[in-house]
Amino acid sequence: MSTSSTSLDQALALLRAGELVGIPTETVYGLAADAGNPEAIAKIFAAKGRPADHPVIVHIAGAEQLPDWATDIPAAAWQLAEAFWPGPLTLILPRKASTPLAVTGGQDSVGVRAPAHPLTHELLKQFRGGLAAPSANQFGHVSPTTAQHVRDEFDTATLQLVLDGGPCEVGVESTIVSLIGAPKLLRPGGVPREAIETLLGIELEHHQSASSAKIRASGLLDSHYSPRTPLLTGPLAVLRAEAVERSDAGQKVLLLSFAGTAPQGVSAAVLPDDPEQFARDIYATLRHYDRKGFAALLLESPPQTPAWLAVNDRLRRAAHQRL
Ligand code: TXA
Ligand code: MG
Repeated sequence: MSTSSTSLDQALALLRAGELVGIPTETVYGLAADAGNPEAIAKIFAAKGRPADHPVIVHIAGAEQLPDWATDIPAAAWQLAEAFWPGPLTLILPRKASTPLAVTGGQDSVGVRAPAHPLTHELLKQFRGGLAAPSANQFGHVSPTTAQHVRDEFDTATLQLVLDGGPCEVGVESTIVSLIGAPKLLRPGGVPREAIETLLGIELEHHQSASSAKIRASGLLDSHYSPRTPLLTGPLAVLRAEAVERSDAGQKVLLLSFAGTAPQGVSAAVLPDDPEQFARDIYATLRHYDRKGFAALLLESPPQTPAWLAVNDRLRRAAHQRL
């Protein structure tokens, strides 16, 4: 028996016993539990330190399992599933009565997606049920894109097994579309907004939540996807000036930019100028430099164009300050 089928069997046994397993997806690693078992789901919230009213995505093998979790499924859901599953797209649909409220954070809607990673696809086929899985990181921290990142987040008493599927190919989370009422983009991600709009022949509504707008206005940003080291984002010229000022004051700072250069006395790192490569690398980059003892990480903002929508969304939430 190969190593991977051994660990797949182990994963199935743990999940059926109501335990947690780290799983690879094409976007980020997930912290999975049996979506039909409220006690198992409670372990996810405890492990992550996540508020209980936050809903968790249910992962399934394919669209044929949609009716197990959702009801009143509109034609647009089948269309989107047909076009983008397995893949980085989560659909928000009316919750089926049998779907545990623990999964939906007490709401009447459920988020469902069929991930594309072959190892997890196989796991889901053999498991048959659904796997509730948020990103496998402590609440508010940087999402994990390798098995080692997941091991760094949880002790082995909490998480006995992480299925190692290699580095994630997409690197940022799934696109979330709500199909309750007018179709809405709730989170930009792995599937481009335009591809969804073209397929459905409509424009998606896209609002930033009222609470996040209010928090931003007060200068305190959503704490999500954040390294422990203060992360500052902004235009290069502003960041260079900030870096010089801090360096003159004796701080060890890092400037991450597309040019990869920095003023004298400031450490430099280069950012990929291809948005897909940037997405693939960003969480690992933040984790890497978070361990290097810098007083601050200064990161040049990417262009405000559609190709960078998901990356800009994550950076906006990850940043402690925007200059
Ligand atoms: O790519 C991904 O989606 C990854 C991988 C592991 O699949 N998962 C992920 O999960 O990003 P998480 O829990 O870190 O983020 C899920 C987001 C949350 O912002 C949550 O509020 C939203 O999905 N969500 C889930 N169910 C929802 C629902 N019923 N209504 C509104 N939002 C929902
Ligand atoms: Mg997350």
